Amino acid sequence: MLNLKNIFYTCVAATALYSCTSKGDNPGIEYAPDMYVSKAYEPFSQEKHMDLNPNGMTMRLPVAGTIARGQLDYIFNYPNTPEGYEASAAAVNPVSKTEENLMEGEKLYNIYCSLCHGKTGGNDGSVITVGNFARPSFANYQDPYIQNLPEGKIFFVITNGKNMMGAHGHMLTPHQRWQVVNYVKKLSLGDNFKTQNENNTIANTDSTTINN
Ligand code: HEC
Repeated sequence: MLNLKNIFYTCVAATALYSCTSKGDNPGIEYAPDMYVSKAYEPFSQEKHMDLNPNGMTMRLPVAGTIARGQLDYIFNYPNTPEGYEASAAAVNPVSKTEENLMEGEKLYNIYCSLCHGKTGGNDGSVITVGNFARPSFANYQDPYIQNLPEGKIFFVITNGKNMMGAHGHMLTPHQRWQVVNYVKKLSLGDNFKTQNENNTIANTDSTTINN
């Protein structure tokens, strides 16, 4: 009896120890692997070599020229080159400056931009104030440089990035990027900023104009 017990304990100990020897792609022995690895193919899971696909991947690359849903809502055909940046000044913002769009722009700005540019565009987000990251050359959004920066160029920079600023085109749909552009202009122009109603007409009409 004692012998059987010993054999049993030795087996348990050996299994436990063996389970710990995971290395590389080998996860060791898993209890009920269904709980770790889904039976259905998840887009990014790679359980084993897939013979039919290039490089043995579970997931295939999309067909060349594939465009994700929503990415073609607004045509913005400027190549990611210095010339493309300059030419993008001509792009017209198709998203009106309604309260609703501005609120959405603010929400997105606070998620994606304020960590560097600060909540009010003071370039005082934590990434910048910690001190290891180069400050933008303009002091803040209220700088005439940003006040006069064409909206198309802002859209271009959000999409493609510029020097130390990374691209955000893969994080925000074109519609969201234009909403953020609107909010950047609101922060930048302060009292001179004009909201618009749904019909795209400017709500208050004194002599100052929106910089486009
Ligand atoms: C990691 C920090 C960082 C984040 C996040 C970031 N930026 Fe920037 N941004 C910079 C820096 C640095 C520059 C200066 C780039 C240069 O001209 O060298 C810059 C430049 C700009 C400019 C001026 C562009 C021009 O044409 O000169 C605008 C407008 C701007 N950012 C808006 C945004 C918006 C909107 C977001 C969010 C979608 C954002 N940034 C996210 C760091 C950041």
